[in-house]
Amino acid sequence: MGDSINKILSEEGSVFKAPSNIVSEANLSVENYNSLYKKSIEDPDTFWGDLAKKELDWFQDFNKVRDWKYPNYQWFLDGKLNITYNCLDRHIKNGKRNQVAYIYVDENAHEVKITYGELLEKVNKIANGLKSLGVKKGDTVTIYMAMTIEQIAAILACARIGAIHSVVFGGFSAQALRLRIEDAKSEVVICSSYTQRKGKKAELKSIVNEATKDLDLVRKIIVDSRDENFELFEREVDLNDLIKSQSAICEPEVMDSEDPLFILYTSGTTGKPKGVMHTTAGYNLYTHFTTKMTFDIKGDEVFWCTADPGWITGHSYIIYGPLSNALTSVIAEGSPVHPNPDRFWSIVEKYRVNVFYTAPTAVRMFMKLGEKWPKKHDLSSLKVLGSVGEPINPEAWLWYHKNIGLENCAIVDTWWQTETGGHMISTYPSFDTKPGRAGIPMLGVEVDVIDKDGNSTKPDEVGLLVIKQPWPSGLRTCWGEPQRYEKYWNEIEGFYFAGDLATKDKDNYIMILGRADDTLSISGHRIGTAEVESALVAHRAVAEAAVIGLPHEIKGECIAAFLILMEEEVPNDQQSSSIKEKVRTELGSLAVPDEIHFVDSLPKTRSGKIMRRLLKANRLGEDPGDTSTLED
Ligand code: PRX
Repeated sequence: MGDSINKILSEEGSVFKAPSNIVSEANLSVENYNSLYKKSIEDPDTFWGDLAKKELDWFQDFNKVRDWKYPNYQWFLDGKLNITYNCLDRHIKNGKRNQVAYIYVDENAHEVKITYGELLEKVNKIANGLKSLGVKKGDTVTIYMAMTIEQIAAILACARIGAIHSVVFGGFSAQALRLRIEDAKSEVVICSSYTQRKGKKAELKSIVNEATKDLDLVRKIIVDSRDENFELFEREVDLNDLIKSQSAICEPEVMDSEDPLFILYTSGTTGKPKGVMHTTAGYNLYTHFTTKMTFDIKGDEVFWCTADPGWITGHSYIIYGPLSNALTSVIAEGSPVHPNPDRFWSIVEKYRVNVFYTAPTAVRMFMKLGEKWPKKHDLSSLKVLGSVGEPINPEAWLWYHKNIGLENCAIVDTWWQTETGGHMISTYPSFDTKPGRAGIPMLGVEVDVIDKDGNSTKPDEVGLLVIKQPWPSGLRTCWGEPQRYEKYWNEIEGFYFAGDLATKDKDNYIMILGRADDTLSISGHRIGTAEVESALVAHRAVAEAAVIGLPHEIKGECIAAFLILMEEEVPNDQQSSSIKEKVRTELGSLAVPDEIHFVDSLPKTRSGKIMRRLLKANRLGEDPGDTSTLED
């Protein structure tokens, strides 16, 4: 990828001028950005304090903007609010009761629209239903649902009553779900009966059955049975039955700024995922503000973020950011290319989508399918295209720019993480962009690229990507594991270390080079090598396992596993399939290795640490570099 970036950047026109049609209030000239940025970093209290007063509705004003006691911080102290009030009630009070909040489309192009007024009623009924089951402020609720309006309403219902939601992506296996339910100590689980995938029904309820078998912790399972009819067991309740007699009024719980809003599990460098915890006010403000700024929102846009609410992108830019800005969002359940490769483009055309936010892996898939599919449709409504999850390679960037943006859209390449809650680096739509480079720090975010001693690197020198002071939507802790939280700020003393490598050019444009730790990015989703390795060694035939990431044309990165088998186990295709199946059941299909290699030994340091770097160099036929620490 490095070569192609260099080639494109050295060509004339490698800097793409901002489109001239970007004219909204959020639009920032470079000069405005520079002076605002300086103020936001030098006086964060005024910057964020003013914004919080202007952009959010409060039940009680905060009396201090930030309390920063390294490595912990709090924002908007003593403020009282409810995020669902900012996402729903205030818009209804402002005359938007009948504005559509979501347009849901399934694979058969069947649509359901829900207005802000209707959504609030649905949220309130579910919230009252949860209360009737004894769920109260501070309890955790695990949500394992299809991407439907009901899923969004269930998430918001938790926030309405102050319950902490923990959404688990529907692609995770029963084992992975069980681990997350147990870790979060969720007594209540909300699930859908199935989700649509390529014309078929992918079972979710049966996975919940397996995940909660003999798990006494779980008191109630609320099932959105959709169009299915099945018998429910003792502790199960049908979502529709639960809410049909509930009132459509539920006063929002008065939440402290720092009350937890949600936990979202993400991969770390150990076998156990970490429950990243976000709180209420800072997250509300930051997702509101970044939605507005990054996507150049005027207020009447049709917004489409193609992520799933099971990931942070869905939390921040399908649910909280767009709703807080009173936008109309599209959500599309199922495959992007089923029943036809132009499914997405027909949706853009039909609903006149203005902002389209997706992942590079999707762009590469569309690129492979060919430009004839978008060409069949009128995509002229689009004004801003977004990218997230991994570096977008210049080839994909250019294809996106030409075939989807029709050379007339801004492309915002947003770098951020589950932990950061919202965008940290991007280009604003009114800025010139450089394919392959995410861009500049967002307002209020002090980003730097440093060497191991903490000094800023010179232009184009590779370094560690750090954030130098807290921002409102940073994670507050890792659920039940404060030491894991502290590691973010301790690994490089004084700074938040994001775990990524980067370079910065002379104009301060940052290029993300990938992770510095043992995590992989499969289709833009973070998976820890340790997690996959522990799933592999859970197979009865596997004695030892090492996992590496390899470049992949569509997924960006795919998994190769190197395995030592138990004595007397035979390495053959059947064994490979059974091992892959094990990973599927332990973690989910996303983590299944593309390659399995049976080996007699693994390269290790003298202290016994597997040198994955050597496996990778060997597999790719590259120079292994320094091997002085290799034991054998
Ligand atoms: O390595 C970076 C990569 O994804 C990581 C965060 O993963 P996750 O918490 O799952 O969140 C993904 C969606 C926000 C980062 O540490 N990453 C994310 N966005 C980009 C990126 N790498 C390069 N460019 C991006 N725009």
